[in-house]
Amino acid sequence: MRPSINTSVGKLKFRNPTLLASGILGETASSMIRVYKAGAGGVVTKSIGKQPREGYQNPTVYLFEGGMLNAMGLPNPGIEYFKGEIEKLKGEHIPTIGSIFSGDAAEFAELAALMESAGADAVELNLSCPHVEGVGSEIGGRAENVYEIVKSVCDRVSIPVWAKMTPNTSDISELAIAAERAGASAIVAINTVKAMAISTELRRPVLSNRVGGLSGQAIKYIGLRAVFEISEKCSIPVVGVGGIYSGRDAAEYIMAGACAVEIGTAVSRYGPEIFGEVNRELEEFMENEHFSSIEEMVGVAHRA
Ligand code: FUM
Repeated sequence: MRPSINTSVGKLKFRNPTLLASGILGETASSMIRVYKAGAGGVVTKSIGKQPREGYQNPTVYLFEGGMLNAMGLPNPGIEYFKGEIEKLKGEHIPTIGSIFSGDAAEFAELAALMESAGADAVELNLSCPHVEGVGSEIGGRAENVYEIVKSVCDRVSIPVWAKMTPNTSDISELAIAAERAGASAIVAINTVKAMAISTELRRPVLSNRVGGLSGQAIKYIGLRAVFEISEKCSIPVVGVGGIYSGRDAAEYIMAGACAVEIGTAVSRYGPEIFGEVNRELEEFMENEHFSSIEEMVGVAHRA
């Protein structure tokens, strides 16, 4: 019998474990619908704030062999406009996780409530963007802030609350434990690693913001370690992100403890078809290794 690649993250069910990561491909409803049709199990939207925001000047992206460095600066059209994009996605019955950011717990809760009323199946709290002042890892790098924000959102909405963690910390599981204690339904690990590229020709940092977030193959082993550590300390589900390009990469994250994965940089590089390929490879891997379901494979690396 073919293995089943259906999975669930808490009470949310997905046809397969590969979700579009936040912030990839511009993320209009039409680009996310294309990604779903190409095989993703669901989509996480761009991070949306209360007001429209332009983001940083170019250059914002630096691609290299082992991945990508980017600092877009959280550009987004604001929640009022974006609610319409969520409604379009739900019109197509696409499992949709609305990513949100803010510097303030009450505003996070307000954004989450607006995502919920637009039809989002869950919210992902961006507590981890590594380079925008006053939001992301600047606040999400402290366990007490994580607790306060997650609690305020959980008190306000009934949809699942996913907390996306920063790897730019000495103990990521401490942050995850704070999110779990505050009522999060899942932990997403990891966001990008704070980094810099230098142009030797221009004799300056490549990105206009100087500092950006590193993603892709370069961070896969950081992500795996984070997922492994978090799933040892927390009992809520973990969603793995960072350097997933193949079925085997996805299997490594699942064995480390993830019940789903998010794919970002590989989509920027190879297009939405990467979802179909990763899922085909994952299914083949499971068949060869005699796993009949994702559930059976989650966390097996902990039993060694
Ligand atoms: O530049 C950006 O918009 C990145 C966001 C993030 O890393 O969460």
